[in-house]
Parts: sequence; C-alpha cells; structure tokens
Amino acid sequence: MTTTWWSHALFYQVYPRSFRDSDGDGVGDLDGVTTKLDYLKALGVDAIWLNPVMVSPMADNGYDVADPRDVDPLFGGIEALDRLTDAAHRLGMKVTMDLVPNHTSSQHPWFQAALAASPGSDQRERYIFRDGSGPGGIHPPNNWVSIFGGPAWTRVVEADGNPGQWYLHLFDAEQPDLNWENPEVFDDLEKTLRFWLERGIDGFRIDVAHGMAKPPGLPDMEVIRAEVLLADMDDDPRFNNEGVHEIHRRIRSVFNDYPDAVAIGEVWVYDNEQFSRYVRDDELHLGFNFRLLRAKFDAVDIRGAIENSMTAAAMADAVPTWTLANHDVDREPTRYGGGPVGQARARAMALVMLALPGAVFIYNGEELGLPNVELPDEALRDPVWERSGHTRRGRDACRVPVPWEGDTPPFGFSDNTDTWLPLPREWAELTVEKQLDDPDSTLAFYRRAIELRHSRPEFSGAVIEWLESPADGLTFRVSGGAVYALNAGARSMVLPEGWSTASCRRTPPPGWCSTSASVRVCTQTRRQSRTFSARSQRHDGAHSARAYRRGEEQTRTLATARLAQHQGRVAATAVHRTKARVDAQPGGQRAHPHDLIRGDSAGVQLLCGVRLRQETHCGQREHTTHWDADAGIPRADGNHFLIQQ
Ligand code: GLC
Repeated sequence: MTTTWWSHALFYQVYPRSFRDSDGDGVGDLDGVTTKLDYLKALGVDAIWLNPVMVSPMADNGYDVADPRDVDPLFGGIEALDRLTDAAHRLGMKVTMDLVPNHTSSQHPWFQAALAASPGSDQRERYIFRDGSGPGGIHPPNNWVSIFGGPAWTRVVEADGNPGQWYLHLFDAEQPDLNWENPEVFDDLEKTLRFWLERGIDGFRIDVAHGMAKPPGLPDMEVIRAEVLLADMDDDPRFNNEGVHEIHRRIRSVFNDYPDAVAIGEVWVYDNEQFSRYVRDDELHLGFNFRLLRAKFDAVDIRGAIENSMTAAAMADAVPTWTLANHDVDREPTRYGGGPVGQARARAMALVMLALPGAVFIYNGEELGLPNVELPDEALRDPVWERSGHTRRGRDACRVPVPWEGDTPPFGFSDNTDTWLPLPREWAELTVEKQLDDPDSTLAFYRRAIELRHSRPEFSGAVIEWLESPADGLTFRVSGGAVYALNAGARSMVLPEGWSTASCRRTPPPGWCSTSASVRVCTQTRRQSRTFSARSQRHDGAHSARAYRRGEEQTRTLATARLAQHQGRVAATAVHRTKARVDAQPGGQRAHPHDLIRGDSAGVQLLCGVRLRQETHCGQREHTTHWDADAGIPRADGNHFLIQQ
C-alpha cells in the first residue's frame, strides 16, 4: 500500500447549507466556509469534503444536479469556490467535493430534452425510460421502490398529451437515474472530473458509488424495504451490480492523470469481500465503510465493526476509513441514547475512531457534540418527508446549521434570523465561542484528540493489536504505541497492571496536575439535583477547582473542588457550600488513577481527558458515589487512551 496524503488524513465534511451564511439569505455558502478556515485549521483538519455545490434546483439539497460544471449562485457561484480552494490551499488543507454520477436533476438539459423527445429516442437513452406493465402500461415496469419512499418510477406525459413511459429514479422523482450503458454518460462525467481537477479540486466523494449500474432486465425486488434509507442491502437488485466496477475502473483511469487527487466512494455494501472489490487498486482510492457508524454502543458490536472494516480494506490492500456521522444519519449523541449519556458515549466513540489507522471523516458539528434537533413538521425540508407520505421525517434533524457565537439563534450562523432550518435556543451552550472557552467542552476534547493523532507516530501506522479486556470492555494497542481502552458497560473495570490513564486535556506544565469534576448535588430540602463542572486552577501550591452551575445565564460558584497532592497523586474533594458535602475522598494508592493525572515528570504523558463524576440521590441521606473503583477503566461516560508507565 503506497502512503498518500489521504492515508491518515482527517477529512471534515462541510454541509454548505449549514456551515456559515455570508450573504444573509439564511442558507450557508462557500464564502461562509472561507471565513471559518482558520477554525478548521486549528481543529487539525487535513481536507474538507463539500456536499454538492453544483447548480441545482435543490430538490435534494444539491444531490439533484442541473449543471455539473458550475457552482450554484446560492452558494456564491464558481468564484466563491475558487476563493475557498485558494485560501484552503494556502493553509495547507485540501478541498474535495461531492460528485453525483448516478442521477441528474430533472431540470438538467438532458432530462428536459428526454421529456420533449419520443420513446426510443437518443435523448431518452441517456436515462432509464421503460414502458409500463399491465393494460395500457398503467403499472410501473417493476416493483422497485424509491429510497425516499413510494415507487421508484414516475410516468411522463408524452407530446400527444397521453400518459406515456415511466422513468426510473432510485431517489426523488426530481432525480432521474442515468443510463450508464450509454457511452455519452461516462464521456460527460469525464468532462466534469477533468473540469474540477484542472481547477484545483483535490478529489471527490462519489455519491451512491454502489449504484449507477442496473441489472439486466431490471428484475423485481424480492424483499421490499422502502423504509430503509441507504442501509447495506447486499441482496438488493437496485445496488451493487457487477457493472459498477467497470464504471469505477474508467473513473480511476481519469484520476490516474491526477495522481494527487482522491476518489472516495459512498459504498453501502456490507459484505467484506463485496466491499473490498470497490477499493481494488484500479477502482476507488477509499470507500466509506459504514460499519462503525452502524454499531451499537456495545463492545462486541464495536469490535466487530472495526475488525470487519479493517478486513474489508486489507483484502484489497486499501486504506480503511472511519466515520460516525454524516448528513444522512442521526447524530451520535442522539443515536447513543441522548442526554449526557449519549454525549459521553459519542465522545468515547470519537476517541475509538481517532485511534484507528486510516482516513477519518468527521461531520460538521460533530466536534461540538451537536445532537439531532426535533423540528416541527412545518420546518421539514427533506424530500423524504413528502415522499413517505409524512411517515418518515427524513434527515433534517442532523442538518441544522452550526452555532458559532452569541446567546440567541441563529448564533452567528447568519445575520438573518430566518435560517433554512431553525437552530434551537438550547444550543446557546454549544456554540463554538462557548466551547473554545471551556477546556472540558466537546470541542476542546476533539482538538486535543486530533492533535494527539497528528503528533504521535503510532497513529500513522496500519495495525491494531487487541488486548485482553473484561466483558463490556474494548482494549487495543495502536501500532505498538498507545493503548485505547473503552468501557462500554455500566460497571467499573480493573486496569491492567502497570497502566495508567492519561488525559486529552491541555498538557499542564511539568509537575502540574490537572483534572475536572462533575458533581451532581442534591439539596435535601428542595429535592433538586444539579450538575456542576469544575475547572482546576493552581492555587498557592495546591490545586483548586471551582464548580459552576450550568445552564444559567450567570454562572455562580456553588461548590469548590479541592485537589491536593496525595502520595504523588492528586486527590479530589468537592465541598458544596450549602448543606450537603458532596465528595468522595480518594486516598493514596487506592485513589482513582483514571481521575488522577501525573505530569510528565512522573513518566506519564497526558493524553486524553477525564471527568470525575459523582452522584447523590435526592432524598437519600447517604449519597452514592460513582467514582470508579481504584484502577478502574472508566465507565461508559469516560474514555481514554492509556499509556504504559
Ligand atoms: C447519497 C447522499 C444523500 C442523497 C442521495 C441521493 O446517499 O448522501 O444525501 O440524498 O445520495 O443523491
């Protein structure tokens, strides 16, 4: 396997409608992206992937392309893309974009010409037109369903005003499928590829890369699963047909003239051997493997996903890819259970992903821990909502614009409060501005983890070694270096002898220790439970941390956590200023090593972040602590890289 710029790259997916609006129309655009390149650079991004920005009526937010060789004015036109590409290149970042070869927009001149022409004409031969079945061709030619709901066929009205042929669309009726058996289709795609590659684009994410080729005779589907959006359906005649590989070989032959450009396929194919065929050395460079994204927060499932993804890539000597989110699926904090647990699990999974060898893709807002947004019916824009007869809400919940700054929607995303999807008020706590200020934020966590991935040599390796773990645990060593440990269960686990956790937080100066505490406090009179977070500070030779009440406009200091050196480790005590004492006092060697972080002088390097967590149950006299037992691998709400002392 040759090493290339993408072999270990961190790709950042920008959904242009939702990233930043520079012209005040409520929809994000390319100049908006350019204004935030410094942010992406500081995050550690190597390459941007832009969802489609070509000219489009936006029936499927750009996945319905009417002119593949120009940029839609909504996004600022082609000059805006040039500005973005130049600025990104100056900062050392690559720019890749979506390419949509399976279908066009119904507004594409080719399709308009096909509608105007008669059955059997050359114009119709660019798409998949068929006569209907049943008397007078009243029924669709086969039983295929659209991924977005309803039949995959729409009947046209012929020039004589009578109902006529049907055309195939695996997605919306505004997205007619191209006929890849017609050589004109590839010729046009080649023009498109060369047009953008000559202009300085560094590669493409190829949409529905397992689509394009259709099986001879278009046989009926045996199992109809219309409700499944882009799941891996290996037995589905609509996808993964043999002919698709010849198309990829031809696409690759164009890429071979641009050896520094990457082709990344969206490949919803589950079987390892079948998947591996897409990343053979004369097809795609990279294929999105969605197994990790589909895994439950379960150690066996996660390990299975990692092993299978690595096996599938290895079968073709290709680079594995990792992704947990994109514009088509529920955001991770929601998928993993929602609330603080979902958030913690999402962070844990981010570290799993960032520890793995290969190319990593993160989706805008993932680094902020954004959850799905429950949108009212009238706000929904995804064609899935209409096509499914209002039975599936579609993907808008994961496409809500990024909150940048300020205290009220749209949080600096746009100057216009009427944004294409509304941002929820609660996101005031999740803005980039707030998170940059908070060393315990998800953003700080991602930045540190990415920095680590870039700075330690083992993360450029190609292997992982599974280590023995208790049930519910997952432990692996990355290319002979750092060890990743995850506790996906509900109980503490014992760390292997001689291992110590390390933190993803900022590295303190030598000799310093750093920790954070999250304390749930119960005031017995009112039976209220509140969460505090504490930040450590150096205070006259000892360490102290103040805990702040969250979720209020004015932060108030309600508790103090004292951190003191104890036999070379740090012990933490949290003292509530009102009635209840809310701490556990770990002591000596039986302290909680994953909460206790030693400076470099003790031979332990800080790698990844830890929260101390303690709960009291309202109304009970004795509060229960959930500090992990000594030498415990963190619980489901903690996650770590470990390094040997
Ligand atoms: C891909 C895209 C999705 C789009 C579909 C049709 O799966 O990721 O957003 O709707 O293709 O182009």
